[in-house]
Amino acid sequence: MDRNLALEFVRVTEAAAIEANAWVGKGDKKAADKAATEAMRSRFNSVDINGTVVIGEGERDEAPMLYIGEKVGSGKGMEIDIAVDPIEGTNSVAFGYPNSIAVFAAGPRGTLLHAPDMYMNKIAVGPKAANAGIHLDKSVKENVEAVANALGKPASEVTVIVLDRPRHEQIIKEIREAGAKVRLISDGDVAGAIAPCLHDSGVDMLMGIGAAPEGVIATTAVKCFGGFFQGRLAPKDDAERERAKSMGVDPDKLLEMEDLAKGDSLQFAATGIVEGPILKGVTESAHGVQTHSLVMRSKTKTIRFIETHHHVK
Ligand code: FBP
Repeated sequence: MDRNLALEFVRVTEAAAIEANAWVGKGDKKAADKAATEAMRSRFNSVDINGTVVIGEGERDEAPMLYIGEKVGSGKGMEIDIAVDPIEGTNSVAFGYPNSIAVFAAGPRGTLLHAPDMYMNKIAVGPKAANAGIHLDKSVKENVEAVANALGKPASEVTVIVLDRPRHEQIIKEIREAGAKVRLISDGDVAGAIAPCLHDSGVDMLMGIGAAPEGVIATTAVKCFGGFFQGRLAPKDDAERERAKSMGVDPDKLLEMEDLAKGDSLQFAATGIVEGPILKGVTESAHGVQTHSLVMRSKTKTIRFIETHHHVK
């Protein structure tokens, strides 16, 4: 995919983050999401792509824009799949918790899995542990030890990031029994999956169940870093199992990175809204507002952190 587009994509996430920031702490998830979604959608108009949303704000009847199947971009450029979340961590924005980003991922048409909106069991590590034999079906202890060995430190110094949910009680117990530390987050497992790829995040592994579409977005980023991600859908009932099948995804299949985000022409951009393990949030600056973004391409694996000072009149 054209490398010149990277800056265009970051403008899209910056716009969403700036609008979302106005809603931080106001307790209104819907208004925050609407503002960020509209900002993201209107920015897309000026980007020279022929994009189709494969992961977005929901199906056509439940989302007014950035819905699945919607065409975005000027229509002039190449045909690409787009996965977006204008606010990944809507609760964090509404209630002022840490860790929320505006996020965008893309790949040539047909490369991003159209993941059903249901849960996915996930595991992710950074590049240093990518070949350590981490596996979703291994025990927590085995995975913790494998990461510890790959990183050359004792299990007691391994930190695993986990969504703070009652469903994770057992896994949290097992992580601690394996001697490792647990870092709980209230929301935002895309940033949670990316964090082990950053050497200064203090996070070595992501474990647990989060949303499946977020698994595709996270994989795009993890691939750009040369990290490792595995997932498996976790349908809550037969109806969800059937829905997964009808969308062409085997609910029992172990989904490797190539299943989730194919090939080596992927793009990723994210802008922090509220500070988290990978990015600072939107802050005021003398010039107006300041944003912090992460922009990557899987082909070159170049990682760019972009600090932007936006002039606000
Ligand atoms: P949103 O983009 O919908 O705000 O998702 C936030 C999130 O925390 C994701 O990061 C995570 O995958 C999912 O929700 C977890 O779902 P649940 O809140 O149902 O446990």
